Amino acid sequence: MEKEILDKYTKAGKIAAQVLEYGCSLVKKDVLVVEIAEKIDKKILELKAKPAFPVNVSINDMAAHWHPALNDKATIKETDYVKIDVGVHVDGYIGDTARTVRLVGKDDLIICSEKMLENAIKIIKTGTTVGEIGETIENTAKEFGFNPIRNLTGHNLGKYDVHAGLTIPNIKNDSKYQLREDEVIAIEPFCTSGNGLVKDSGKPLIFRWINDRPTRLIEGRKILEMARDKFERLPFAKRWIQKGFSPLKVELSLKELEAVNALYGYKPLREVSGKPVAQSEHSLIVKEKPIVTTSL
Ligand code: CO
Repeated sequence: MEKEILDKYTKAGKIAAQVLEYGCSLVKKDVLVVEIAEKIDKKILELKAKPAFPVNVSINDMAAHWHPALNDKATIKETDYVKIDVGVHVDGYIGDTARTVRLVGKDDLIICSEKMLENAIKIIKTGTTVGEIGETIENTAKEFGFNPIRNLTGHNLGKYDVHAGLTIPNIKNDSKYQLREDEVIAIEPFCTSGNGLVKDSGKPLIFRWINDRPTRLIEGRKILEMARDKFERLPFAKRWIQKGFSPLKVELSLKELEAVNALYGYKPLREVSGKPVAQSEHSLIVKEKPIVTTSL
């Protein structure tokens, strides 16, 4: 890997780690989730990076892809499992990292997700297979008596591409694919006391540009231009565009843009049995001795 690119990955990773640390410190009783999201947005810019995706603040059985709308009233409760998943980029090079916070203290579920990640990272080097990673993660969950989430996976990180190419299942699988030197990956195990499966739940709060398409509404055209140019084809929050347009026009535009395949909407993902979910995540550059870019 060229030094300049490696430097950008490590810079993005370091900033993501700092933002995650800061985000976790904002989790307090009765705080509005939208306030946490706003402060995280500001922090990323302050540290001279840009969001690679809107911070996911997914609580309890909500496993991923949840982000508050502009006037959302959701607040933090002491027993909540608060998963903060931060993605930032420097010139398109991404750091992606997540942790689970609980105000009453870590329990086995959270410790399990941390161990799943730790054990996976221990075996990662050039040549490790995707099958070995999945098996290590699943075995760790089983030792704690929990289930990994079968349909959420780790992934490659590409330039301006959060889910590039490879998927790395959090369960046993027979993939013989061997990690290559300098491949950039995010390992993100999720565990639950429930079934171990997530399903779409509710309307998307996060979107991403997929195609330029003619639109009926002028607001729709403007939103699509923002998705392409301002948000650089990376995922963006509905909250970010709600600031500039009337609520009705935002709803109609997003609906139209999704229908004509101009935008992709990420639906929030909830655990099917309604049980809490914990998540831990780091980004790595694969080497004989891998670099965890998102460590503090
Ligand atoms: Co990720």
